[in-house]
Amino acid sequence: MTHATAFTPAEIGGLARRIDRPVVLVGLMGVGKSTVGRRLAALLDTDFIDVDEEIERAADRSVSEIFEAHGELYFRAGERRVIARLVEEGHGVIATGGGAFVDPETRALILDRAIAVWLDCDIDTLVERTARRDSRPLLRKGDPRAILTQLKDQRGDAYAEAQVHVVTDDAPHTETALSVLSAIDAWL
Ligand code: S3P
Repeated sequence: MTHATAFTPAEIGGLARRIDRPVVLVGLMGVGKSTVGRRLAALLDTDFIDVDEEIERAADRSVSEIFEAHGELYFRAGERRVIARLVEEGHGVIATGGGAFVDPETRALILDRAIAVWLDCDIDTLVERTARRDSRPLLRKGDPRAILTQLKDQRGDAYAEAQVHVVTDDAPHTETALSVLSAIDAWL
């Protein structure tokens, strides 16, 4: 577990120069990967890209529509291709969808070419945050709390392979972005 630390702008600049690979945020739906990612990229003065948004742009459909029209396997294949491209392009901060890092090929690529940061939090917070938007096809299949609990259990070992682990719980996203910076600083 990492606690937020105050950084001076010069310290953040120094850290940004030491980060020579994309920072890739992984973890369950609702943990805050996209919002934290945007704030992290702003702090590091680098670019931010969201994998789900890139998939939607490439397919010209929402993630829900892709799941509905073609199923999860088709979505996963597109997700794998998009992540490979984004890592190759060398973006500063990349937020993945919750299932991406569970794919062995994607996980190996991210671990080899990027810094994986696992954002982790308690189920109550995930349930509360995911309830705000109905954009997640996997949570429509039943009780969101039961599904998130099961996914946390199934995916935990894969997420634990990330180089950096940050437990956020219900901390504000700006604080989490600073916790990510300290955790990367400690890891580098
Ligand atoms: C998924 C997470 C979603 C999206 C898709 C599947 C998952 O992204 O990629 O609905 O398998 O956990 P977020 O984690 O950004 O919600």
